[in-house]
Amino acid sequence: MSRSVMIVGSGGREHALAWKVAQSPRVSRLYLAPGNAAQIGESVRISGEDLPALRQFAIDQQIDLTIVGPEAPLAAGIVDLFQAAGLAIFGPSQAAAQLEASKAFSKQFMQEYQIPTAAYASFSDYEAARAYLDTLNAPVVVKASGLAAGKGVIVCDDSAQAHQALQEIMRDQAFGAAGATVVIEERLTGREVSVLAFSDGDTVIPMPPARDHKRVFDGDQGPNTGGMGAYAPVPDVDAALLEEIHTTVLQRAVDGMRARGTPYVGVLYAGLMLTPDGIRTLEYNCRFGDPETQVLLPLLDSDLVEVIEACITGRLADCPVTWRDGACATVVLAAPGYPGHYPKGSPIHGIDQIADAMVFQAGTVLQGGQIVTAGGRVLAVSALDHTLNGAIQRAYQAIPKIHFDGMHYRRDIGQLL
Ligand code: AMP
Ligand code: GLY
Repeated sequence: MSRSVMIVGSGGREHALAWKVAQSPRVSRLYLAPGNAAQIGESVRISGEDLPALRQFAIDQQIDLTIVGPEAPLAAGIVDLFQAAGLAIFGPSQAAAQLEASKAFSKQFMQEYQIPTAAYASFSDYEAARAYLDTLNAPVVVKASGLAAGKGVIVCDDSAQAHQALQEIMRDQAFGAAGATVVIEERLTGREVSVLAFSDGDTVIPMPPARDHKRVFDGDQGPNTGGMGAYAPVPDVDAALLEEIHTTVLQRAVDGMRARGTPYVGVLYAGLMLTPDGIRTLEYNCRFGDPETQVLLPLLDSDLVEVIEACITGRLADCPVTWRDGACATVVLAAPGYPGHYPKGSPIHGIDQIADAMVFQAGTVLQGGQIVTAGGRVLAVSALDHTLNGAIQRAYQAIPKIHFDGMHYRRDIGQLL
């Protein structure tokens, strides 16, 4: 059977999903809602937020499979809405997406199912949270519980900073309603790693371990961003450690969600820290990562549509998921000023000159036939090679051929800091 597939979202992650889905012999039509200037497939002029309109489009166009990129529609219940209309869609239900959408839920869940994580307390009352901070004498991290586009986490050095963070989140409502509840947790140290997995609600198949670089400048300096680059696999996570993450962090979560009557189907993303005391789970995300997807999908040998359909129909245990040898690296090319204010509408040149790497478009639109910038993270340049160093070199060799005004990027993607 030949399918019509729709991908919800408009970033580099969604371009990578579309690029991989388009390679599947199972797919005859591909829609992006709304997509960007990459123009793989047909652009649907419906925002990822307008769930009823997306559902109506899927019914009218007889979409056989919808794949959701970002967390917001998942947390808003797009999967429940589509399933109620008999439509096949890949991602967790609203109840299961709480693993990302509510840090208070997620921490309590981890505690209940003995998933290794930092010690914590959560509060909806400002005075109670203040009083708790005064009882601690070790550094903490203060987190808005709700979705805050990756910005609601404040890592504090001392008590004064922790009080300041609490005030910003709960009193000044810096992240709006997302900060009505806070999580205060023990500050950990160590390298971070992202392990994403496919889940059909029962079987869990991890992808190769990946690492993103969140700070804007070289040497992990400057403010946090959505991610300035990534690579996979990560050499400091060996097969034994990956297996430990599989069983204690990913499988336990999927088993726990099934036990609660809210099975987790979709991609489960564990953000982990490798501490001197072992692995700790910093967070779960309920979706593919961005820019991790731009290194993981080029490494995926299997047909992504086949894997996704196995997840949706509960047959993942019978579906071999295979990966290429070697490594993949991606470097994000950002607009000037990002992650602060940045201009839009600058022409982008040179994408068509790249032969040795893949250019995944993120913040781009077509304006009168010209590709122009439309976001902070503009492009992600990914390259494959037999070795990680080779992949990094290939990505960096491609970049000078690309130009837009004020383009900036990190020069140290793939280096261990
Ligand atoms: P989260 O969204 O919870 O993953 O947090 C975003 C970032 O904050 C993480 O990638 C870490 O760099 C940092 N972070 C979160 N929790 C902790 C913690 N308990 N200790 C130290 N750093 C943390
Ligand atoms: N790369 C971080 C994320 O996708 O949440």
